[in-house]
Amino acid sequence: MAPLGDSTNIAEEVMVAEAEKRPVSTIVIIIAMQTEALPLVTKFQLSEDLDSVFPKGVPWVRYHGLYKDLHINIIWPGKDGVLGVDSVGTISASLVTYASIQALQPDLIINAGTAGGFKAKGASIGDVFLACDVAFHDRRIPIPVFDQYGICAKQTFPTPNILKEVQLKVGKLSTGDSLDMSPHDEAAIIANDATVKDMEGAAVAYVADLFSVPAIFIKAVTDIVDGEKPTAEEFLQNLVAVTAALDQSVTQVVDFISGKSISEL
Ligand code: ADE
Repeated sequence: MAPLGDSTNIAEEVMVAEAEKRPVSTIVIIIAMQTEALPLVTKFQLSEDLDSVFPKGVPWVRYHGLYKDLHINIIWPGKDGVLGVDSVGTISASLVTYASIQALQPDLIINAGTAGGFKAKGASIGDVFLACDVAFHDRRIPIPVFDQYGICAKQTFPTPNILKEVQLKVGKLSTGDSLDMSPHDEAAIIANDATVKDMEGAAVAYVADLFSVPAIFIKAVTDIVDGEKPTAEEFLQNLVAVTAALDQSVTQVVDFISGKSISEL
């Protein structure tokens, strides 16, 4: 008789294979900043969930509605309860990804947001990337195998047909909890071969992977990390304009997904 673990795995694989064949029904879109999220809330005509699916007291916000037969959920981690700024970074991203999977059982997760880009790797302001790989650049554990655990490099869910249909650049994404870049981060980002750098992607990927939920990463470049301008200044200057490009790409991707199964993406 096969050990219990094996039969459980087989049952899970069968369920995943079945799910991949039926049309995508529920999408969770994780967006860290309110400025990035609200234009999409308007575009998809979503409403804020007043009777929250999330635990009482957390700042996490769900906007939801039906768009082209898709149950769309935009999840914004909300404002920090003390400081009143957007809850950016990997901790909030992990928590909302976990809670959203538990509450909504999505067929697909899209992590959309802005990113820093490396001009040496071909990125320009306003470019929108679909990440082919994700990894962390600020989890340094110089002990064999723990080093790889820290970096947590993964290929993302492949979507060749989205790439045929929607104009997106492709590049590797590196994630860390800082907007700026220390020399240590820089060395790790180069080792990760990254073209874009954000503060959430690899954390969302880690949690999505735990539950075998396919996840894709759409990132628009607000600042050039290897350029002359100070990052924070350039980011704030370009945030609104680049968000328009991001939201256009996310809409095109969602339009493409409508009526298709996971295996057709
Ligand atoms: N989001 C936008 N620009 C970024 C940068 N330079 N680093 C991390 N996240 C970002």
